[in-house]
Amino acid sequence: MTAKKKPAPKKVAKKEEAGVVDIKIPRSNKTPQTVRGFRDILPVDQVYWDYIRKVAPEIANAYSYDYIDLPILEEASLFVRSVGEETEVVNKEMFVFMDKGGDVVSLRPEATASIARAYINHGMLNLPQPVKLWYMGPMFRYERPQSGRYRQFYQFGCEVLGEKSPVLDAQLMIMAYSFCKDLGIDVVLQVNSLGTPADRKEYVKKLTSYLKSQMKYLDEQAQETFARNPLRLLDSKDEKVQAVLEDAPQILDHLSDESRKHLMSVLEYLDELSIPYELNSKLVRGLDYYTQTVFEIWGANDDRKGQLALGGGGRYDNLIKELGGRETPAAGFALGLERIVLKLKEKEQPLPPLFKPQVLVAQLGDAPRRKAMALFEELRKEGINVIEAFSKSNLKQQLDIANKRGVRYTLILGAAELHDGVVLARDMEGGMQETIPFKKVAKEIKKRFTEEYLLAHPKKK
Ligand code: HAM
Repeated sequence: MTAKKKPAPKKVAKKEEAGVVDIKIPRSNKTPQTVRGFRDILPVDQVYWDYIRKVAPEIANAYSYDYIDLPILEEASLFVRSVGEETEVVNKEMFVFMDKGGDVVSLRPEATASIARAYINHGMLNLPQPVKLWYMGPMFRYERPQSGRYRQFYQFGCEVLGEKSPVLDAQLMIMAYSFCKDLGIDVVLQVNSLGTPADRKEYVKKLTSYLKSQMKYLDEQAQETFARNPLRLLDSKDEKVQAVLEDAPQILDHLSDESRKHLMSVLEYLDELSIPYELNSKLVRGLDYYTQTVFEIWGANDDRKGQLALGGGGRYDNLIKELGGRETPAAGFALGLERIVLKLKEKEQPLPPLFKPQVLVAQLGDAPRRKAMALFEELRKEGINVIEAFSKSNLKQQLDIANKRGVRYTLILGAAELHDGVVLARDMEGGMQETIPFKKVAKEIKKRFTEEYLLAHPKKK
């Protein structure tokens, strides 16, 4: 008698238990579109992003921050525990779903929570402190799309973990400020302190009792915000709420000595470096993990009612402990890159492309094209900014491209040049032509881009 085979365990059990429903993907014959709030960033806009991708690592490296890549998908509970259950980001804006294994996951709405998780997961407390990390990548929030507000947007962020000195709070603000300045954007910082959790608790009590006395002036929506988190009323844009708040107690008047000292020290560093800032006791930020210093970066001429912050940050000294790590003070900031790009676009002077082609290799016929392709590779490896138009066979078309891209020299290779082992170098400023032997092309071209040569042969106006 053969033994009965045990039935294989049901693989789908977990999924069924979790009540996962397989979603039927609707069929459509319509031309596909991007999902609302998601965008293509087209080549015409990449010049702005090229500058951002250049300046971000320069700033991060200058202050010894190491780059980290974090996953785009995390357990949804990470954000509930760090950003806070009652915040709009978690409550209304997260892209949460159950995966096929029944796990409840979320596209990351921000990266500070992931940084704190990574710090704990990889035992970074054993590294020399502070640990300084930076990141750049997409975040996702289900917000109502408008100019400067998208459902997928990019952040450049820096986080410093394992050190509570106020010098780091100031330094983070200086980094965010310098990033904008280096891109030619004038900004001003808004600064506040939320104190220690004990300070805040005391302050919320005072604010609550004041607001209770003013309830009749608050509409239903404001009363709802009050019930969820009275602090969130402080940065309400509603004029009636702001009128009520005029006589409200201010958090800056209710800080403990420790918190006041910390804030004063941060401000002294900013003063020393002449960083423009405004103390704003109504700045509370929309994320729950903050303690002590909080700040936002605003366009210098933006008004806080009509416009959007370019970035924000602050201290989060309790977050790592709350996620199960050791007590680890930390602070950081993130800048919204779409909003930075909008600022760059507002500028009168358009940004010049970072890649400036110097030379175009033109060719006439099959055999010259093969040689031209080899020459192109050689010049590229020599560090010359060379471009090509190998799919074109007509010289005029190739010269037009050379003019349009602003190259100084077009190297022309026809059958005669190939036979003689030379290229014809045409100076696009004036049309002078000279022949250069193949072997000397790279050297001769490099010479023509030295400062002395360019001074002696200036561009025609
Ligand atoms: P946050 O203020 O929520 O802070 O976001 C930072 C920046 O991201 C905003 O100032 C804005 O420029 C940009 N941003 C936010 N939402 C959108 C959106 N829907 N569309 C376009 N841009 C947006 C944080 O995320 C914290 N993690 C910052 C931080 C780092 N705090 C400490 N360390």
